[in-house]
Amino acid sequence: MMNNKLEEDLSHMEDKHEYIQIKSPLEDTVIGMVHALTQKEVDTAIQLAKEAFRSWRDVPLNERAEILYKAANVLLEHMDEFTVLLMKEVGKDRKSANSEITRTADFIRFTADTAKSIHGESIQGDNFSGFNKEKFAVVTREPIGVVLAISPFNYPINLATSKIAPALIAGNTVIFKPATTGSLCGIKLVEIFKEAGLPEGVLNIVTGRGNEIGDYIVTHPDINFINFTGSTEVGLNISKKAHMVPLLMELGGKDAAIVLKDADLVFAAKNIIAGAFSYSGQRCTAVKRILVVNEVADLLISHLKEEIQKLQTGNPLEKQVDVVPLINTKAADYVWELIEDAKAKGARLIYGGKREGNLIYPTLFDYVTTEMRVAWEEPFGPVLPILRVNSVDEAIELANQSEYGLQSSVFTENLSDAFHVASKLEVGTVQINNKTERGPDHFPFLGVKKSGIGTQGIRYSIEAMTRIKATVINLSH
Ligand code: NAP
Ligand code: G3H
Repeated sequence: MMNNKLEEDLSHMEDKHEYIQIKSPLEDTVIGMVHALTQKEVDTAIQLAKEAFRSWRDVPLNERAEILYKAANVLLEHMDEFTVLLMKEVGKDRKSANSEITRTADFIRFTADTAKSIHGESIQGDNFSGFNKEKFAVVTREPIGVVLAISPFNYPINLATSKIAPALIAGNTVIFKPATTGSLCGIKLVEIFKEAGLPEGVLNIVTGRGNEIGDYIVTHPDINFINFTGSTEVGLNISKKAHMVPLLMELGGKDAAIVLKDADLVFAAKNIIAGAFSYSGQRCTAVKRILVVNEVADLLISHLKEEIQKLQTGNPLEKQVDVVPLINTKAADYVWELIEDAKAKGARLIYGGKREGNLIYPTLFDYVTTEMRVAWEEPFGPVLPILRVNSVDEAIELANQSEYGLQSSVFTENLSDAFHVASKLEVGTVQINNKTERGPDHFPFLGVKKSGIGTQGIRYSIEAMTRIKATVINLSH
């Protein structure tokens, strides 16, 4: 639909289409242009997907899998291009960009492998009282139709693929709406699948601003499933508008790291700092608050301080860094507001609290109270609040007071305490003695409360984007 070469894009500027400039968060330069699709063009894309569904659903599973295996290889062949694009378009550091691509290739392969091992089942009628063996059900999994995949800016390759690959292997066709900042990566990703042999119409990208075309796509009558990753605000809006369309949603989070008195504090500090600040905390699973029991708070903080000082900050095009400029000025202003609010309300600044343009230095606050916004809001940026608690029960209570419920960490040497805390936490996943994080990608990944609906993870995503069909055989007829 659109190519991503700036020169070619500019040469089309004379045509009647509208274009959106994609600016790098690293330098204030335009790195590409994407087409802002009209409603009519969106209709055409969805129509193509609907027509392609009729034949794609009947392509044998092993042939669909072959295309996916090939796509994984082609993606890796383009590693260098993708790395540079990820760095320029969404400001990733080189190491994270490389790992996003490798992880995505692994994800695609594992998806193909997994689908081959998902079998239907047959259920005997005589399992239920009053029925006999002459009645049984053959239960199969059917694709749902046209899946709308909407992805966020922060993992433009991986989080797009985590929707696209399971949808395709299950026999669905896809309308892919990438985040506008991230759509150059999205366009290239679609080219990879096409190069791997995906037939025309099976995967269609629609570019344009979510606040302009979003409502139109999500309420389109020919969309049969919506798989969304992004903010809770946009997710809520979609869920209010989608009528009778099944939803899978990964939304915001406020993941807590709970540190108990017998934790290995050096290990916990290393883990927490890495979990909170990599890619400047622009990860749904970033550690977003620390709840530490008073007895060990001072010692933990001294280790945290040691670790935070090691973080490299700056432009990833110049050197390998952990903390990069935030995706745009709106995001940086928001994080800065949270920092100012915490300072004004008496939080103790342990480290950071500095800003240069959209680069916010890693910031750590102690003595954060429940009156401060940073105790509850998701910064999606490099600021980490510490809330001191008197007991494990208080930590659990504070953790659960959040409107979010993505993940939590518990650091302790006592496994039974860890299980006790884990059993009380209202989240999708509890990490015992590790930072909060998504991988490995075949594990279930879900948020409760305002963090999401449904379960992702390779097998779970395939299951979510298929429906059960029962064909009942009646032998006595
Ligand atoms: P976002 O602003 O909510 O955008 C996400 C996607 O929704 C983008 O493609 C965006 O397009 C689109 N969109 C915006 N308005 C829309 C509308 N009215 N209808 C349909 N689509 C619309 O989120 P983001 O800033 O890209 O990502 C950060 C957020 O995502 C954070 O809150 C983070 O926690 C969350 N996230 C969650 C997970 C998870 O797994 N739980 C993973 C990653 C990120 P435009 O770019 O064109 O606006
Ligand atoms: O931003 C959300 C991603 O799904 C987080 O993945 O924990 O591997 O960084 P990650």
